[in-house]
Amino acid sequence: MHLFLALCISTIVTGAAIEQRDAVPPGYVAAPYYPAPHGGWTSDWSESYRKASLLVSNMTLAEKTNLTAGTGIFMGRCVGNTGSALRVGIPQLCLQDGPLGVRNTDHNTAFPAGITAGATWDKDLLYRRGVAIGEEFRGKGVNIHLGPSVGALGRKPRGGRNWEGFGSDPVLQAYGGALSIKGIQSVGVIATLKHLIANEQEMYRMYSLVKPGISSNLDDRTLHELYLWPFAEGVRSGVGSVMIAYNAVNGSACSQNSYLINGLLKDELGFQGFVMSDWLAQISGVSSTLAGLDMSMPGDRHDLPIVLGNSYWMFEYSRAVLNGSVPVDRLDDAVTRILAAYFQMGQDQNYPRPNFDTNTQDAEGPLYPAALISPRGIVNEFVDVQANHAEIARDVSRDAITLLKNQNNVLPLRRNATLKVFGTDAEKNPDGINSCNDQGCNKGTLGMGWGSGSARYPYMDSPIDGFKARGATYQFFNTDSFPSNSNPSPNDTAIVFVSADSGENYITVENNPGDRTSSNLNLWHNGDKLIKDVAAKYANVVVVVHTVGPVILEEWHDLPAVKAILFAHLPGQEAGASLMQVLYGDVSPSGHLPYTLPKSESDYPQSVSLVGYQIGQPQDTFTEGLYVDYRHFNKAKVTPRYAFGHGLSYTTFAYSNATITAVTPLTATPPTRPAKGETPSYSTAIPPASEAYWPENFNRIWRYLYSWLDKNDADNAAKAANSTTKYPYPEGYSNVQGPGPQAGGAQGGNPALFDVAYSISVTVSNTGSRPGKAVAQLYVQFPSTSTVDTPIIQLRDFEKTSTLAPGTSQTLNLRVTRKDLSVWDVVSQNWIIPVVDGDYGLWLGDSSDALHLRCGTARGSCAGEQTSPV
Ligand SMILES: *[C@@H]1O[C@H](CO)[C@@H](O)[C@H](O)[C@H]1NC(C)=O
Ligand SMILES: *[C@@H]1O[C@H](CO)[C@@H](O)[C@H](O)[C@H]1NC(C)=O
Ligand SMILES: *[C@@H]1O[C@H](CO)[C@@H](O)[C@H](O)[C@H]1NC(C)=O
Ligand SMILES: *[C@@H]1O[C@H](CO)[C@@H](O)[C@H](O)[C@H]1NC(C)=O
Ligand SMILES: *[C@@H]1O[C@H](CO)[C@@H](O)[C@H](O)[C@H]1NC(C)=O
Ligand SMILES: *[C@@H]1O[C@H](CO)[C@@H](O)[C@H](O)[C@H]1NC(C)=O
Ligand SMILES: *[C@@H]1O[C@H](CO)[C@@H](O)[C@H](O)[C@H]1NC(C)=O
Ligand SMILES: *[C@@H]1O[C@H](CO)[C@@H](O)[C@H](O)[C@H]1NC(C)=O
Repeated sequence: MHLFLALCISTIVTGAAIEQRDAVPPGYVAAPYYPAPHGGWTSDWSESYRKASLLVSNMTLAEKTNLTAGTGIFMGRCVGNTGSALRVGIPQLCLQDGPLGVRNTDHNTAFPAGITAGATWDKDLLYRRGVAIGEEFRGKGVNIHLGPSVGALGRKPRGGRNWEGFGSDPVLQAYGGALSIKGIQSVGVIATLKHLIANEQEMYRMYSLVKPGISSNLDDRTLHELYLWPFAEGVRSGVGSVMIAYNAVNGSACSQNSYLINGLLKDELGFQGFVMSDWLAQISGVSSTLAGLDMSMPGDRHDLPIVLGNSYWMFEYSRAVLNGSVPVDRLDDAVTRILAAYFQMGQDQNYPRPNFDTNTQDAEGPLYPAALISPRGIVNEFVDVQANHAEIARDVSRDAITLLKNQNNVLPLRRNATLKVFGTDAEKNPDGINSCNDQGCNKGTLGMGWGSGSARYPYMDSPIDGFKARGATYQFFNTDSFPSNSNPSPNDTAIVFVSADSGENYITVENNPGDRTSSNLNLWHNGDKLIKDVAAKYANVVVVVHTVGPVILEEWHDLPAVKAILFAHLPGQEAGASLMQVLYGDVSPSGHLPYTLPKSESDYPQSVSLVGYQIGQPQDTFTEGLYVDYRHFNKAKVTPRYAFGHGLSYTTFAYSNATITAVTPLTATPPTRPAKGETPSYSTAIPPASEAYWPENFNRIWRYLYSWLDKNDADNAAKAANSTTKYPYPEGYSNVQGPGPQAGGAQGGNPALFDVAYSISVTVSNTGSRPGKAVAQLYVQFPSTSTVDTPIIQLRDFEKTSTLAPGTSQTLNLRVTRKDLSVWDVVSQNWIIPVVDGDYGLWLGDSSDALHLRCGTARGSCAGEQTSPV
């Protein structure tokens, strides 16, 4: 009720007239927010802005517009290639996928996917994986890495690209994103936080001539408390670039949604880098410019046949500035943002040029594959960027492995165990580990999902390779049907490998167009039947699952023979040795589920199902609000098969001696934000048309996108600036820079939001007989006196111990910030603490359903042996 009322009020408060969007359900509005805030006002970027502005003030119109877009799809070595401004020393910038390693190249590492990294719950590993990924992109000469992904958040269990991110919780996702960014950018690579925002399914995501992209309709509070949260943390960590999603929000395409880009991202979150479109997500020229888009990728229009040399920007951007429709300061700000990110990462100092080609694996090839006639040359130099990254990849894969069940201590395996291994997922794809473009098939060991977020495997260390390397006594049946010749013996341990895959929408695998439409949440390749058949003949069965996300285990979970279940997630190239170390007990498993495992798909709210075909713009309304994943299961009192955060070890841990310390005293609203600092200023006069004229005798590459205009065109555009015909600016348009909302004030928002309110320490002791690592998870329960409807518990922090020997302990320090204890108030448009003196419960434990240690903020004390709140 409160929320509904608040929504109505916020619509009135927002005020300005709203464009009618027929198909969008009543109440969801895409409000105007203009102008695009200038970047450069936070002190942590001022030196880079100073350097950038010196260049920008000296650049011609055509040089500036050249940096804001790609030169066209397949028109360079990288998946995206901006134009250059060589006169002022700026080369073409190379943009390349993807979040788990350099896509479409060689001598790279295929790192474990985001979801696997999330399952480690290990901040140090998340950071170190980021550093290693950054080193590989730098080594290949990539300026701008297209990752990490923190959206999709995983609202829909069937969503195709959830595995690229870190798990179905905003805080887990936020740590995954922010720590990856810090790692990647520590070696000078610009990271790209994506996809802004609410890009929760693959189908119908894109705008085309015949159909608008799907509209995610969600309220302001849900946006702030769930989907925007990881973006806020990524911006706070200093990310250089943000990628806009394909879909619409509240009916307005994200790529030209001024409220989203100008309002939320640049003003409220204080984002200082540049905003790029997803590939062909831009659907207008001037509108997207005014809405705050800074870079168009790959440069082409989405609606005309691509590779014909059509663009909304480049030469059209030059025209739009000359004719006065786009104010000069908007272009100057876009270019300054791009160059500031370039300087912020130190790319002006000895940064390598691209030495690979995303379009071919051959050494030689066309330099511009989409041009009919292209010069040829050396395009792949086969630079080895792997260094010792296999080690970090293996550590992540190993520490992500999540033990869900382990009866009779069937695991760890004894060294002399005789094994019968079943399932094609245990061994490499017999057609070749890279035989499917962008991993668009599920054959052999599943190390990653498919699409632009994939990479080529340099090798695949399969589970069978692992057994071999161990000298295990095993027999492998490389089939997904139970073989008649396995000769079960009572001494055998059977290990069954099964998988579930998903990916990006441009490839359909086994009738799944990215999202898991056909496979549902089931195992692929009749995995359920294989497990049941094996369990009928063998008394000790271990199931190993490689999966992109939740799968239903019910058909076989409770069979007496199924003694152990391990989720190995998506291990990338390191599927074998990492698994052996856990199976044989060199280490105890220490991964925890980054999502809930349900008993049935009907346990989820109906509103998180995939949206199918709808006439006109498909509408996806987030009526469940805050109640996704465990937040929903807890509220609906549905017991999952395994709760979010669950993960067993070979040893046991006790949590004790917890203390809570108040650090920053709280007030209902945060202290007033700091004012914006100075931003670069430039002449606002429209530059002379001559700055956009084609140079004489320029040797054009056919279909390549340039920023120049024919002399006549440029002159006519300049004349139009003086005519009475004015560009039809959107409702609410203004070109007067504002002070920014009160919830802003620094990268990530008002810096006071990140003040530590309470610090908590807890001692974790290994009470078992084997070494192991524990994950302490901290969930906040709002005071019972709060009238704001809030999920029962919400993850706010976590820490992993180092390896603890039996009998030893470690004290972990966790914290909650002001923001962690706040709700987004849609009326005041601020983070408020609903009851300042209320008794917040800060619950500690090793799973969201096993929280037995409670620290209360009112009394400032902690108590163990409490009943878990869920
Ligand atoms: C979408 O509409 C809701 C309901 O009016 C509003 O609260 C929210 O701020 C809007 N979101 C965006 C991104 O425009
Ligand atoms: C850039 O600087 C050079 C050298 O100071 C000057 O000759 C030139 O006119 C400047 N160009 C622009 C576009 O400001
Ligand atoms: C734009 O970039 C292209 C590709 O690098 C280059 O050929 C062209 O000269 C650049 N244009 C300007 C105005 O610098
Ligand atoms: C200026 O040029 C842009 C880009 O082609 C165009 O969209 C806009 O309508 C033009 N404005 C005027 C006033 O002609
Ligand atoms: C494996 O070795 C253990 C002792 O190390 C022994 O108890 C067990 O029977 C052996 N199992 C097999 C199948 O030989
Ligand atoms: C099982 O293992 C034990 C211990 O090694 C051995 O004595 C026995 O013969 C084995 N049974 C079968 C059926 O192989
Ligand atoms: C309990 O925690 C406090 C504060 O962190 C620490 O000083 C003390 O050594 C701990 N005691 C034990 C027994 O771990
Ligand atoms: C447009 O008007 C301005 C101011 O009146 C004038 O300086 C400029 O030369 C005119 N531009 C064109 C292309 O006519």
